[in-house]
Amino acid sequence: MESLHEKTKTGFTEGSLYDQGRPSYTSEGVEHILSILDLDSLAGPDIRYDVLELGAGTGKFTSKIVEKLPESIRYFATEPMDDLRRQLAVNCPTVEIGKCVAKSIPLPDCSVKAVIAAQCFHWFATEESLVEIRRVLVTGGKLVFIWNNKDRSVPWAQSMEDVLSLYYDADTPRAIRYEWKAVVEKYDGFRDHQYKFLPGLTFKGSREFIVDHYSTISVINSLDDATKRKARKQFQNVIDNDPSLADERDAITLPMNSCRHKTFFDTLFAVLICSEQFRSRMSPLFGSTLRSIIILCEQALSTTTGNQSTPIAAQRHTNYTLQLSIHLRNMLVGKHS
Ligand SMILES: C[S@@+](CC[C@H](N)C(=O)[O-])C[C@H]1O[C@@H](n2cnc3c(N)ncnc32)[C@H](O)[C@@H]1O
Repeated sequence: MESLHEKTKTGFTEGSLYDQGRPSYTSEGVEHILSILDLDSLAGPDIRYDVLELGAGTGKFTSKIVEKLPESIRYFATEPMDDLRRQLAVNCPTVEIGKCVAKSIPLPDCSVKAVIAAQCFHWFATEESLVEIRRVLVTGGKLVFIWNNKDRSVPWAQSMEDVLSLYYDADTPRAIRYEWKAVVEKYDGFRDHQYKFLPGLTFKGSREFIVDHYSTISVINSLDDATKRKARKQFQNVIDNDPSLADERDAITLPMNSCRHKTFFDTLFAVLICSEQFRSRMSPLFGSTLRSIIILCEQALSTTTGNQSTPIAAQRHTNYTLQLSIHLRNMLVGKHS
């Protein structure tokens, strides 16, 4: 698919490997999301699904949430990569499954109550995707992101991350770089941004299991065979040489989100609520253009007085600019003027 990042296309190719190597999500995290969604309070004539999941992968999150939802809930899980989607169908046989990328969702406007993206928004964190997500959300609907973040306060977990970093280039998105957050905060099609950290899970397994986990990370899975072997060896060396792991090489605990310190290495939720005020009047893109014009007007207001040929001309100029700015603001919030 043309709009997928290169590392998505080469890094998420094998559903069964991904499925074995990746963590699930905590029950507390899933319960928390359910409490946020508040699906019963939303309504609309065009609603087709209660929940749309983007980048569902093999269904790690899908299977956890669906088991807690009533059967009546209409859940649509989508995944662009074919082999992961095949595994998703195996893991979540009762769920409706589709293929799409975030910036082109095959659903009408205002047709879903909630959009969820688990461990994946960083792959499509663009204004274009947010506009598209907002388009399909009903007014007041929620967009929820969740990530499992590793607790890197544990020295050997940090050493594993150091190895991983050797294989990242600047162009490959990484959730922990928080570039996605800057995109979210710049886009104003959502009324409310909430961020929450919860204690996450502990990921247990042998040395091989832990190394397999790191091998499922897209930048490692994308490597050619020889470089992948080298990377795996580097991960193994970290485990073999860390004195704190001397007694537990066969039953290692990877402290995913174990919340020892007050850092952000917990499960993170970002909840955005789809804004009502701009919906009926204009598209989000038009809204943001309008906001840019208003900023320009306001800048003009603060600089023009005194630059005109006469004080009267300056006063007129100020009045016109002021009126224009008020008029535009009224348009933006849907007031007639
Ligand atoms: C780390 S995986 C997460 C999968 C699953 N949600 C989970 O929690 O295990 C990232 C997922 O994002 C998907 N993805 C990447 N780019 C995407 C895009 N532009 N639109 C939708 N999904 C995308 C990938 O195909 C992959 O399944």
